[in-house]
Amino acid sequence: MNSTQQANDQKFRAIVVTEEKNGSFSVNVQTRNISDLITHDVLIRVLFSGINYKDALSASGHKGITRRFPHTPGIDAAGIVVESANQQFQPGDEVIVTGYDLGMNTSGGFAEYIRVPAGWVVKKPEGLSLEECMIIGTSGFTAASAIFEIMKHGIRPEDGKILVTGASGAVGSMAVAMLATAGYNVLASSGKPEAETILRQIGASEITGREAIDDKSGKGLLPARWIAALDTVGGNTLATVLLSTAERGLVANCGMLASDKLEVPVFPFIIRGVRLVGIASADTPMSRRLEIWKLIADKLKSEHLHSLAQTISLDEIPEALIRMKASENIGKILVRMAV
Ligand SMILES: NC(=O)c1ccc[n+]([C@@H]2O[C@H](COP(=O)([O-])OP(=O)(O)OC[C@H]3O[C@@H](n4cnc5c(N)ncnc54)[C@H](OP(=O)(O)O)[C@@H]3O)[C@@H](O)[C@H]2O)c1
Repeated sequence: MNSTQQANDQKFRAIVVTEEKNGSFSVNVQTRNISDLITHDVLIRVLFSGINYKDALSASGHKGITRRFPHTPGIDAAGIVVESANQQFQPGDEVIVTGYDLGMNTSGGFAEYIRVPAGWVVKKPEGLSLEECMIIGTSGFTAASAIFEIMKHGIRPEDGKILVTGASGAVGSMAVAMLATAGYNVLASSGKPEAETILRQIGASEITGREAIDDKSGKGLLPARWIAALDTVGGNTLATVLLSTAERGLVANCGMLASDKLEVPVFPFIIRGVRLVGIASADTPMSRRLEIWKLIADKLKSEHLHSLAQTISLDEIPEALIRMKASENIGKILVRMAV
């Protein structure tokens, strides 16, 4: 029997989301065969994954994320190449996969094995361990993509404060820690008073409540309070963020936790020259992806990275997904596979 046949016969543990007859979705650990995975170039033994908001949506049956069930979610995975039909990767290589279609309609990282196209695979960046890559994961990559835009726009630490909304969440907390590591002065907005201590520990210099970034005055501009922002919330929060951004500032939006609608006067754009940038991390082209991972490894790796992560096992994922959907988590949930 050759090594490919041996691999195909092997069984592995995975989270499987099943659509039940009554229309509900169940989330369980099951045993699967490697031969069940769609034949892509690279077979990876997963050592770490991490939980993202999109996983919670997939696991609850959101058809905009995952069309067919049963399905294994997990948009992030890090591990070791077992087999590769592409010369770029050799068995034993340490690699990460974040985004693309992983965990959406391709069997995802909440499993001991994944099989993916070589074009999705990134060699572990120098200066980060596989574990650190998955603490960062899509949430940290998204935060770093926004910081990349802020830096590219020429905004320097001395230019003013940077606001982060949804600061206690996975993207928000990564953004606070990364911005502080890069020397920026961070204003963190959070609806969780209990998150204040950790937000200060990871580098927020000021904390404000959610309601302070939710202006209902109807004014066309508000006093400038920050030079740039990463908004994870959308809706009226994003409108308030834009109205309060200083001249030539930049607002990066990646999320819509409050609302997917944006109604805002045009004055921030035509009077202050504020720029609104969308962050869509999943399909980041490979050359930009490598640039952002290098930025993370070289300039944004926080000394507090490990304190942001709560580590769980594969068996604990169903419970963690429920907490994620309710936005109850503080920081990042790292999944360590049993090896
Ligand atoms: N575009 C992309 O590439 C990309 C990538 C990753 C994530 N996302 C999106 O970014 C958002 C955040 O993801 P995440 O992984 O950080 O989620 P998360 O860990 O659940 O954190 C979300 C945080 O947002 C705040 N929040 C929740 N509901 C809110 C509401 N109704 N109004 C105001 N704030 C609220 C809470 O923080 P506080 O209690 O501290 O306020 C919560 O902890 C999601 O919409 C996700 O889909 C987008």
